[in-house]
Amino acid sequence: MAVEVYHEPLCRRYYASRCSCAYFFFLLIALVGLILPFFLAYTNVPSFWLKTHTYREQPSITFQHKVLGTLQGTKQIRGIDRQMQIVFSSMTDVENLYGPELRVCNLQNIELDFNRDGVTDEFHFTALCPLAKGETILGASVATFFRTKLSSRARVDFDSLAIAEHRDGMGGGSLFVDGDYILKQKWPFRAKGGYYLPYKRFPLLDPSDHKIKLQETLLPNIIFGYRNRNNTLDYVQQYKVWTPSPGVPDNHGAYANFNLTMVLRVPQQDVLYTPTASEVLKDAWLKYLAIFVVVKYLLEFFASFVAYNQLVDTTMRVETPHEREGVKATSL
Ligand SMILES: *[C@@H]1O[C@H](CO)[C@@H](O)[C@H](O)[C@H]1NC(C)=O
Ligand SMILES: *[C@@H]1O[C@H](CO)[C@@H](O)[C@H](O)[C@H]1NC(C)=O
Repeated sequence: MAVEVYHEPLCRRYYASRCSCAYFFFLLIALVGLILPFFLAYTNVPSFWLKTHTYREQPSITFQHKVLGTLQGTKQIRGIDRQMQIVFSSMTDVENLYGPELRVCNLQNIELDFNRDGVTDEFHFTALCPLAKGETILGASVATFFRTKLSSRARVDFDSLAIAEHRDGMGGGSLFVDGDYILKQKWPFRAKGGYYLPYKRFPLLDPSDHKIKLQETLLPNIIFGYRNRNNTLDYVQQYKVWTPSPGVPDNHGAYANFNLTMVLRVPQQDVLYTPTASEVLKDAWLKYLAIFVVVKYLLEFFASFVAYNQLVDTTMRVETPHEREGVKATSL
């Protein structure tokens, strides 16, 4: 008992001369078959040629050990509350600019990598600033600086900023901020070549090649410069907890520290990039092919109808199984 292992259609062939109506008719059908899918694909989806593409990556951040923080509030001098500001920093160049406002705080940071893939998942920062008698803190802010790298598809390396801040009406003893570090792109990254260093010439608060000026350490100036960039990471403060200060000295006669804690989480996120030429062509080819298959099926159906019913003049010849040399045909 034999089973069918393969089948192949036999052709019905139609012939016509080169200047007949039939010739031009089938030429037209062939052209429509090639061009129509292209127009359908072109006008359809957002754009036929892929302009941007996304993929997921967790940005790799490294703390640059640059911190600039302020505490604002009031200080009681001879019974009168006066405005005051405390500045703290990890950079001596910055500290030198602030005389009486400078306070030496205990700064601690830790980078946590839970899944041990070499990419920081969480960054914790704590500043403990000793307060003097009569000082009330009503607002706190801290700017931390990171080096951010993307390396799987888009390859970029730039410095980024994270600012945590809060103002309150009630004198505080600590501020706890927990948030996400989110990539914000105004322009897609490119996906070819080596590392792209977009802001190498204009690093944020960098005293390495010039003497830093007071203007450069002011938060409005830092933020403005940062926001002018096309690609940034934003620290999105999800939750803030402001705890009131006890306001009295402890058992040893020391006034409490102001405890500023910042938790920064780096999630995996969408990265926008400009696809390479091969990706663009492959994507365009798939869009074309998907429509071509349907168009070809319909046109073939139509052409077969026209030819078989002799709607245009042609000569028909039917292929038989015996035509080829060495073919053994049996009738079923
Ligand atoms: C932002 O990207 C656009 C387009 O590539 C470019 O023209 C502009 O100079 C960029 N701006 C900055 C600050 O890099
Ligand atoms: C500062 O606050 C954080 C978060 O609330 C806490 O984990 C830490 O122990 C505090 N540090 C001190 C010295 O109180």
